[in-house]
Amino acid sequence: MELKARAKDPFKVKASCLILGAWEKGFSTPLLSRLDQTMQGAIRRAVRSGEFSGKKGEMLILHPSPEFPAQKILLVGVGPRNQFDLEQLRQAAGRALGALVGQHLSQVVCALPLLAIPQAGLAERIQATAEGSLLATYRFTRYQSRKTLQETLLPKGLTLLVERPKDLEQADQAISTATRICRAVSLARDLVNEPGNVKSPEWLADQARAAAAEGEFNCTVIDRQSLVRDGFGALLGVAQGSEREPCLILLEHLGGPADAAPVALVGKGVVFDAGGISLKPAEKMDEMKMDMAGGAAVIGTLLAAALLKLPINLVGVIPAVENLPSGSAIRPGDILTSLSGKTIEVLNTDAEGRLILADALTYVKRFAPSLVIDLATLTGACVIALGQHASAVLGNDQSLVRQLIKAGESCGERLWQLPLWDEYDQQVKSEVADLKNTGGRPAGTITAAAFLKPFAEGTRWAHIDIAGTAWRDKPAPYATKGGTGVGVRLLLAYLQSLSCPRS
Ligand code: BES
Ligand code: MN
Ligand code: ZN
Repeated sequence: MELKARAKDPFKVKASCLILGAWEKGFSTPLLSRLDQTMQGAIRRAVRSGEFSGKKGEMLILHPSPEFPAQKILLVGVGPRNQFDLEQLRQAAGRALGALVGQHLSQVVCALPLLAIPQAGLAERIQATAEGSLLATYRFTRYQSRKTLQETLLPKGLTLLVERPKDLEQADQAISTATRICRAVSLARDLVNEPGNVKSPEWLADQARAAAAEGEFNCTVIDRQSLVRDGFGALLGVAQGSEREPCLILLEHLGGPADAAPVALVGKGVVFDAGGISLKPAEKMDEMKMDMAGGAAVIGTLLAAALLKLPINLVGVIPAVENLPSGSAIRPGDILTSLSGKTIEVLNTDAEGRLILADALTYVKRFAPSLVIDLATLTGACVIALGQHASAVLGNDQSLVRQLIKAGESCGERLWQLPLWDEYDQQVKSEVADLKNTGGRPAGTITAAAFLKPFAEGTRWAHIDIAGTAWRDKPAPYATKGGTGVGVRLLLAYLQSLSCPRS
């Protein structure tokens, strides 16, 4: 789907379908009154009959007379005017485009960016519209036959309307930004959706290499032998139950001054989590192919940052392993010596994410980063606490946490903070080693972070638990069922706020 911006009157532009937004109970906008007149009161009648009221999620298809330049009109409800913000715009665009997939349309014209939003400029409205539209048309088609592919056919072109010709330059820029970001989100989704039989740690490393070639950034893969030599004992402990060799993927985008400390991103890369000897129940175990979503977000973020040429230095680290039960797997009660030298009593082999992250957090200190952010599908407790609508954030630096929360609000990938008080530390203290890898049922998301805390000591650090947000079992306005690519837009919004701070 080709995106472009045009400065045209919505009622004078040729289109197979024209998308128009309508406020809830607010049909008095000049645009809709004009349309209603042209269509002899068709909109008024639809409202009166209760067919359409402008509520969020409502859609109405209108067929204007043959002399009207658009063949049909898709009227989208965008909810109350005083609640309309960039996220509502993204969702409205997503719902609209989602409804047009599979219809074999050639030119779709979208007038949603013309809807005003207080405190949001044109560029932001264009970017949000483009993001919602592009992400709603994402499909994981790699394993579909030609017939099912027909049902996923996208419009050929999408035109976003602006008011004045002098807006076009800004709009084109915003479209190009959104296109690059959505490319990266789609890659992250693809990586998460790929089935476990294909998705070995080595495969993930190959995908990271391909992304690095596409974005022209660096990718180095540290193999098992080197991990053994350097003493990544916690990571290797998790990996030893699988026949697939683990690796550590290192990504570098060097867009800033050579002497500037990098921002470090760490992503959990468990390509499949069966739980190990502490085997998970069968129900929904298939979904555990998504346990590398943190790693996918880091690969996606590096790609987006490189495509957008962000003027910062960025390091990405992804510990990649598979967690399976076997005769060579770690047992409950085993004690591992981590890269940091700290020893860990493994009480539950299903708490593997924190083990590989411990070594990755230790490793990343070699780059003397200005701050570290890790993303991980770390705890089922996070799904219980926050569900699908927010990721959890915890950290040792409140200003970093605050900035991340703000970035999340701006892009629609919301974060909610949980406390990381020292009182929780005793739940992960072991009697026989320095730490144990489970803290019992109370506060499971917090104690997982409390486990990570000593490994991040000495650096500004935030941990984001995406267990509830990385995967959807139902489609959302601009996400299909499956991997969401969560984290890419969040981290990018945060990194952009670093490179051009706005109030
Ligand atoms: N990958 C899982 C967490 C998870 C659960 C992610 C559901 C997405 C959806 C993680 O490795 C895990 O198994 N965590 C355990 C930890 C427990 C044994 C302390 C959990 O949350 O049950
Ligand atoms: Mn697990
Ligand atoms: Zn896991």
